Amino acid sequence: MTDIRTPVDLPALLAGLTPEEKAALLDGSDFWHTQGNERLGIPAIMLTDGPHGLRKQATSAENLTLTTSVPATCFPPAVGLASSWDPALLRRVGEALGDECRAADVAVLLGPGVNMKRSPLCGRNFEYFSEDPLLAGELAAALVTGIQSRDVGASVKHFAANNQETDRMTVSAQVDERTLREIYLPAFEKVVTEARPWTVMCSYNKINGVYASENHWLLTDVLRRDWGYDGLVISDWGAVNRRDRAVAAGLDLEMPSSRGAGTQAILDAVAAGTLSETEVDQAVANVLTLVARSQEREPLEGFDEQAHHALAREAALESAVLLKNEGGILPLDPASGGAIAVIGEFARTPRFQGAGSSRVNPTRVDSALDSLRAALAGRRAVLFAPGFVIEADAADEALVAEAVAAASAADVAVVFLGLPPSQESEGWDREHMELPRDQRELLAAVAAVNPNVAVVLSNGAAVTVSGWQHQARAVLEGWLLGQAGGAAVADLLLGAVPPSGKLAETIPVRLEHNPAIGSFPGENGSVRYGEGLLIGYRWYDAHRLEVSYPFGHGLSYTSFGYRDFDVEVLADGAAPRVRVAFTVVNTGDRAGTEIAQLYVSDPAASVYRPEQELRGFARVELAPGASQRVELELGARAFAYWHEGLGDWDVEGGEFELRIGASSRDIRMTATITLAGSGSVAPLTVDSTAEEFLARKDARDWLTGTLANTPLGARLFNERYGRMMRAIPLVRLSRFPGAPFTEATLADAVRRFTSANAEGP
Ligand code: BGC
Repeated sequence: MTDIRTPVDLPALLAGLTPEEKAALLDGSDFWHTQGNERLGIPAIMLTDGPHGLRKQATSAENLTLTTSVPATCFPPAVGLASSWDPALLRRVGEALGDECRAADVAVLLGPGVNMKRSPLCGRNFEYFSEDPLLAGELAAALVTGIQSRDVGASVKHFAANNQETDRMTVSAQVDERTLREIYLPAFEKVVTEARPWTVMCSYNKINGVYASENHWLLTDVLRRDWGYDGLVISDWGAVNRRDRAVAAGLDLEMPSSRGAGTQAILDAVAAGTLSETEVDQAVANVLTLVARSQEREPLEGFDEQAHHALAREAALESAVLLKNEGGILPLDPASGGAIAVIGEFARTPRFQGAGSSRVNPTRVDSALDSLRAALAGRRAVLFAPGFVIEADAADEALVAEAVAAASAADVAVVFLGLPPSQESEGWDREHMELPRDQRELLAAVAAVNPNVAVVLSNGAAVTVSGWQHQARAVLEGWLLGQAGGAAVADLLLGAVPPSGKLAETIPVRLEHNPAIGSFPGENGSVRYGEGLLIGYRWYDAHRLEVSYPFGHGLSYTSFGYRDFDVEVLADGAAPRVRVAFTVVNTGDRAGTEIAQLYVSDPAASVYRPEQELRGFARVELAPGASQRVELELGARAFAYWHEGLGDWDVEGGEFELRIGASSRDIRMTATITLAGSGSVAPLTVDSTAEEFLARKDARDWLTGTLANTPLGARLFNERYGRMMRAIPLVRLSRFPGAPFTEATLADAVRRFTSANAEGP
């Protein structure tokens, strides 16, 4: 028997395996297990969903019944957790998930998903964190750290550019490299470099024409070379297209089992010489390392269901976002006042998670209706009316009449609205952003008889509120809050706990304002990310669009002030470090938690920069009148952009504005700093233009010297009219009549400059 515990003696293990055994290790054995090797004592391990709870199916071979799995705590899906902006909470949720995996003998939990919310219509947005890569990356890294602290692996997914469900298996996401590096990859990068996930799951789709599973640039150049990843790359379930190409690209493990087809394809390719043994060995080594890591896990005798439910409730409390609260209608006084009408089927039948592979079989489910009744028992009457049937197309007149009667007889009506489950699932996208018509009609009817309406929403992705929110004095965006969401909503409505979440995605006035309009979900097998860097608030800011609620928005039952903004440049140059400090004050008379946000703006750059980008944030819990100093440190990436010419990140010198805000549109303080930047210039080639030569001292000296006193020089250096000529690549200029240099002398000169390329302008 081989001891497969870490550290593994990989050379010895590899030497002991036959080619057939190696190829077999790169394939699953069923839906959820790797293949073991009895001869060498290599066990099969289980990998299963994920992400916001464990979905371990009773029979390991089946994936077809998505509804039957062992009971597990259903924490809020990512859409909720993201609104907490609380890495410490995510870490604790991760620890609990890790413990549930240990109790169920699961080696790897398949999550979290960190794809960007490019369009609010993506059917899987409930499983993703944000439209902002920094927020998504920080939260996901904390979750992964929590899971892996229990010696259970995580699988950050779906790598990469899987931002829609329509044609997700085949569509090619056409995205320029700068956009990939600045928007679609950084959340993965943060998780990989900071939390070191045991596995990374490749997506189904193509990126710029190449399947993620066969994408060497993605899986090897970016992931392993640039980010230093040393874990295992696993396919999404059924994402492998050509197995041999996938191994060569850096995809180690195919899941689920290919029933031998993948193994044979690998053996054939090695025999044909199109795949090297070294490439296979590397993949096998990654599988063996994963298996070894998983053997460190101490088994757990069950888990504390009560404690995990309590944590799910805590997480739900932080996940809801109070969008509006006119006249302080919330919180409701639990002790005095007339009846409260609780209207809407979702109060009784909570919608707390989305559909598809992430669907958890909860250990219990709290409804808001039961929780409100329990909290108000003997103090305020609760009148319930379901108001509508979930998934019905048309309003039910009798249910509306019953709801109107309840609202008329009450001091206040709390109306629970949301999206029917069929609209939000893995596998398809939404067609619009509206709440169902029957629910909107119900709200109008209720608001007509009672001016005191508070709406509670249950939805996994943003819905438009502009058409109906005037009919509600308060709106609590409850997203999907997991199994304890109902109890949490009751706590929030009654003020037992103040709301503290903030939006991780913009709520636009209308769908048509979204940047992906016209290129979502694409056509003829391809989707063009034409909006480039401008997703989410970056787009709404750039276009000066009014939004219903901006990224980063969220109210509390108290108010906050900001003061004493200090900025210190700790290091300058190519790798600047900047320390930011400020004070947040609770200026109201209730306790509350503020999420302060730091945005960086680069007002004058040689390339297009978004108006502002989130670069830091902090949750601050404050008693009435209390204040707290917040310190954040920014590194080079807070100021850098992806320079396609350099093929690297670059900090361009100049002024940067640092903005502290309560949301992306509620900036309270700003400060300007000047950074020297890297001074890097893209290397010159013979194809560089005269303008590019003139931007560098050594090249400028050569060009001005060479063209001095020539008719060509006179035209080219003419301040007003020479611009047109200065745009011509010098190799082409060398062929112009009268050019005093040839392609060969130009090439000589360029060789001299390239050896001194570090020299600045
Ligand atoms: C999903 C993954 C999931 C896997 C296993 C796939 O269809 O895209 O997120 O982990 O199935 O259920």
